[in-house]
Amino acid sequence: MALVGLNEILMDAAKKGYAVGAFGGSDMISAMSAIQAAEAKKTPLILLEEFSLVFRDDRSLELHFAALNAMAERASIPVATILDHGTCYEDCLKAIRWGCTSVMFDGSSLPMEENIRITKEVVRAAHAAGVSVEGEIGHVGGDEGGATLGGLAADASAYSSPKEAEYFAKETGVDALAVAIGTVHGTFKGTPKLDIERLKAIRSAVGDLPLVLHGGSGLPEAEFKKAVTNGINKINIFTSTEKSGAACTKELFAKEDQYVVTFDQIARDAVRAMQRDIETHIEIFETPSIGV
Ligand code: 13P
Repeated sequence: MALVGLNEILMDAAKKGYAVGAFGGSDMISAMSAIQAAEAKKTPLILLEEFSLVFRDDRSLELHFAALNAMAERASIPVATILDHGTCYEDCLKAIRWGCTSVMFDGSSLPMEENIRITKEVVRAAHAAGVSVEGEIGHVGGDEGGATLGGLAADASAYSSPKEAEYFAKETGVDALAVAIGTVHGTFKGTPKLDIERLKAIRSAVGDLPLVLHGGSGLPEAEFKKAVTNGINKINIFTSTEKSGAACTKELFAKEDQYVVTFDQIARDAVRAMQRDIETHIEIFETPSIGV
């Protein structure tokens, strides 16, 4: 099955009103877990690729992206590979050169006009290369990786406005738009609740443009379902999957008095745990299986 653009996966999702999960690509183990989970569920997959997690220098990143894109290309389900949270025009161009079928430019912490200006440049270059672009307005705060022990609450003053969503979409020509409606990256403080009325207003303001929810880890099942019913088409999950891989590593070390723990054991158990976590999310999202 060939690699596909985000566009190909999300246009159908937006037209028919369902959501597709975007999962781990911080390393080959999380990428393999995501591919195996989507293959088991026979659903399309959006594979998140990152610049700032395990690998940081260009040579390592280029190899990392090449490996992930090659894995995606050989999957039995359609996979869109996306640079997640590109922070500048140059990073987006690198990801395109390294084979991503889609890029996200995250200008959400910039003033609106500056966000629009750079997003527009990314869209122009990416579309010329046949690559889809996700933009973001409003700001989903927090840290990927669940770094904050106490968790974070969403900042309602940074939620996306329907008017701005419409303006941003029209000005930039993005293929998908990430909106802030009550999630945070990482671990939540308390019980998160989405602003569904805001989501409905954004959905009606942007027509059938695919909408994206970042910071999905830890959201209650009922909130996911409301998000999908009211217009979300792509849901990003990172912390939950990574934590499930780490939890089984902890269990292995707890039994270290019985045997020597080796990295291959850690990796094998982590793949199983992360695959399970991703499959559970795909079930909650009710992403339709291909050909059903
Ligand atoms: P979580 O880490 O909260 O799952 O968010 C992931 C994300 O939005 C990646 O872009």
